[in-house]
Amino acid sequence: MRLEGKVGIVTGGGSGIGRGICIKFAQEGAAVLVADINMEGAGETVRLITEAGGTAAAVKSDVTSPESVENMAAAAVEQFGRIDILVNNAGTDIKGSVQDYNPDTWDKLMALNLKGVFLCTQAAAKRMVPQKYGRIVNISSMAGKTGEAFTSPYCTTKFGVIGFTQSIALELGPDNITINAVCPGAVETDLIKSSVSGTAKLNNRTYEEELYSKFISQTPLGRVAQPSDVANAVAFLASDEASFITGSTLNVSGGREMH
Ligand SMILES: NC(=O)c1ccc[n+]([C@@H]2O[C@H](COP(=O)([O-])OP(=O)(O)OC[C@H]3O[C@@H](n4cnc5c(N)ncnc54)[C@H](O)[C@@H]3O)[C@@H](O)[C@H]2O)c1
Repeated sequence: MRLEGKVGIVTGGGSGIGRGICIKFAQEGAAVLVADINMEGAGETVRLITEAGGTAAAVKSDVTSPESVENMAAAAVEQFGRIDILVNNAGTDIKGSVQDYNPDTWDKLMALNLKGVFLCTQAAAKRMVPQKYGRIVNISSMAGKTGEAFTSPYCTTKFGVIGFTQSIALELGPDNITINAVCPGAVETDLIKSSVSGTAKLNNRTYEEELYSKFISQTPLGRVAQPSDVANAVAFLASDEASFITGSTLNVSGGREMH
């Protein structure tokens, strides 16, 4: 087991990709703090892990609130003794054309997808620097590498996550803390279902036509991803096998994104 004895926090661990990462971490031997605003989803993730013999606890956490994030980090130390791994996964996408986009919605997306990554990294770094060990993995997107129509706020945040990752890799490398980003393509979760439905409407297509046109037809491996595809990559970057990898960005897109 690659994460034996390690303690990991996964934000947005109550659903989709985050839940997949929590389950993979537990299978690899880590104790997992499932952080989410949705306690029902977080509780379900904990149930899935503990019933399989793993170790996990849930904490209610809003990544946009400094106080809530500080409580999350304190809860990890209180429950499991330390923080070895942080996965900044919580995030969402709200589509729209630039002419019609509501500025308040723009601010909300920036707060969740970008400021949340900063706040959680800050809280974890305060605990990781003194112990001279840490692994941080940020979930960006292939929309963090290439622009997409009707997706400008989301792309802005996901490009931002990559810039943040590279900057912090320079700052925290001397303290033996690595930080990397993962760029998934389309992953079968609630988020992709609502996102594809949104652009389908704007493009006057059915859901299936939009999914095929936007993702599957342009994916060399001919399918969308499952949360486990992303979780496998995150577990590698969180493990000691990746101890000389920092500031990098790993595509998990079936070949849809290659740079
Ligand atoms: N699904 C995809 O195709 C895809 C592709 C590329 C990148 N991503 C990224 O992966 C991440 C996870 O996406 P997903 O598809 O699993 O989404 P999801 O909607 O299934 O899960 C997101 C989770 O984040 C939680 N959350 C929302 N706001 C929060 C807050 N303020 N504080 C804490 N938790 C909060 C939600 O309750 C939910 O459990 C996101 O950052 C997303 O941008 C997803």
